[in-house]
Amino acid sequence: MCGIVGYIGRQDAYPILIKGLQRLEYRGYDSAGVALINPDNKLNVYKAKGKVADLEYNASSKDTSGTIGIAHTRWATHGEPNDVNAHPHYSQSENLALIHNGIIENYMVIKQELIRNGYTFKSSTDTEVLVHFIEYIKKTNKVDLCRAVQLAMGEIIGAYAIAIIDKNDPDQIIAARKSSPLVIGIGEDEFFLASDATPIIEYTPRVIYIKDEEIAVIRRNKPIRILNMRDIEQTPEIKTLEMNLTQFEKGGYPHFMIKEINEQPRTIVDCIRGRINIEATDVILSGVLDNKERFENARRIIIVACGTSWHAALIGEHLIEDLCRIPVEVEYASEFRYRNPVIDKDDIVIAISQSGETADTLAAMELAKSKGAFIYGICNVVGSSIARGTDAGSYVHVGPEIGVASTKAFTGQVMVLSMMALTMAKQRKTITDELYKSLIKELIIIPEKMKKVLELNETIRDLSKIFTYAHNFIYLGRGYNYPAALEGALKLKEISYIHAEGYPAAEMKHGPIALIDAEMPVVAIATTDSIYEKTISNIQEIKARKGRVIALVTEGDDVVCNIADYCIEVPKTLEYFAPLISAIPLQLLAYYIAVNKGCNVDQPRNLAKSVTVE
Ligand code: M6R
Repeated sequence: MCGIVGYIGRQDAYPILIKGLQRLEYRGYDSAGVALINPDNKLNVYKAKGKVADLEYNASSKDTSGTIGIAHTRWATHGEPNDVNAHPHYSQSENLALIHNGIIENYMVIKQELIRNGYTFKSSTDTEVLVHFIEYIKKTNKVDLCRAVQLAMGEIIGAYAIAIIDKNDPDQIIAARKSSPLVIGIGEDEFFLASDATPIIEYTPRVIYIKDEEIAVIRRNKPIRILNMRDIEQTPEIKTLEMNLTQFEKGGYPHFMIKEINEQPRTIVDCIRGRINIEATDVILSGVLDNKERFENARRIIIVACGTSWHAALIGEHLIEDLCRIPVEVEYASEFRYRNPVIDKDDIVIAISQSGETADTLAAMELAKSKGAFIYGICNVVGSSIARGTDAGSYVHVGPEIGVASTKAFTGQVMVLSMMALTMAKQRKTITDELYKSLIKELIIIPEKMKKVLELNETIRDLSKIFTYAHNFIYLGRGYNYPAALEGALKLKEISYIHAEGYPAAEMKHGPIALIDAEMPVVAIATTDSIYEKTISNIQEIKARKGRVIALVTEGDDVVCNIADYCIEVPKTLEYFAPLISAIPLQLLAYYIAVNKGCNVDQPRNLAKSVTVE
């Protein structure tokens, strides 16, 4: 979603801001812009619809001098993507320029008030309303910019992160946040500002995460000041980033997505490192063990998540119910937050989110917290808002995921859920020692099996060519592989724009089977499990209606291969962990179809990496 970059220091700001915007491209955006104060204190704003390269083109013949600036990639919410609606936005006097992530919900009320006071607007955005409002407060209350921002924050409703500069004070950036992340990087005589650490990491590992309802005063050659809304000074907490630049680069692959698909054998090792003992006899998941009583006494588990994380949650439901005998409910966070859910203090609510910033999941988690539930987080981004808001949790530890389509984070989430289920099952004594140990033994060899699946790369690339021009796809699975089918369909939709649906295989006959004809490709996940025979019958039903079946089967399965039109054979694993293996060929199939179609795989149209608005 939208991205923020800022710089103040001794170097030219423009190249740093442009590079920062490029590093944030993975978040998804539709326009970009930059504001710089030049050495003559002129505030220059340049914007462009499209990519950062379009912005560079627009600014190429213009004055881009200055050692202070802010820049933005916008993902449209209020007003279409165009040059005018792109950020930064000038204030009425053109003394101030502001960039903004998030949504100001009461912007219409404020806009009416400003119009009554003679303000005019060029764009359709809530952001322009905010910058005019801050200037209005600054003038009418005769306060400095920091105080004006504080007062504005008291009036506005919504979730936001902002950065603002004033041409009359070229030594200062003011930044503030509520429910939308902001990080300050501390260099030698220079400061960097960004909506996540990605643009900062190449300059400094020293960062301050601005907390909710805090305002940062970033002044040239002065220590950072952090204030809260009541103007009380806060002590900045400096953290050291444990990331390196190579994690944000493609490492020889044409796209981040294929790099991330191929990383999975290693990221799963990172995910289980230190959590399964060397003898492979025990799982030590501290978030669960440290809250032993909560987990032992839990009467119900509710999992809230969105998109791919929601699919991981469905697999978690199977694992926890199977192994721990606790009822589990999986909810779309966006629906949960607007219901009046029955939540008990003995309930555990698990929030799953790769980014840890998804607005709906964050709100669902806050709602559950307000009703007294114990909140457990499963996030990938360390220090993210969801990770910080939970009572306990487990990081996925798969490293930064840059491709908008989630791949390695999904398998990491499923691995964490598998380890959680095992830990809880042991505590609650719902698993025999023999099964517990055999499951751990299988879990630790999953990375090796993933390596074998990745050897199917060429086969799947060839297969993808046959289906590049399909208009629809159906994905079928049962049991543990039903969520894997949903995830396979989502991957294809997201990056190739082919309509695809996932169904429980047996549900087909209740309606969707009407769609089947010789033009309909059907991906059937039919690895050997407790309902394998039933799945075969469902595949026969598809074949009887001339559907073109691509079957995902366990190595050596001639039965299904003889029925299906195409066969993808994957290594055998236990039913509980089947999605960890079946996810990968489906990721590859979606990837190659999208590449064949010439789609922008890493930044699909209309999508954002981190969905920080409702
Ligand atoms: O960061 P989160 O896991 O909370 O994100 C949730 C969804 O927005 C996300 O999984 C989305 O569906 C991805 N584009 C999937 O590839």
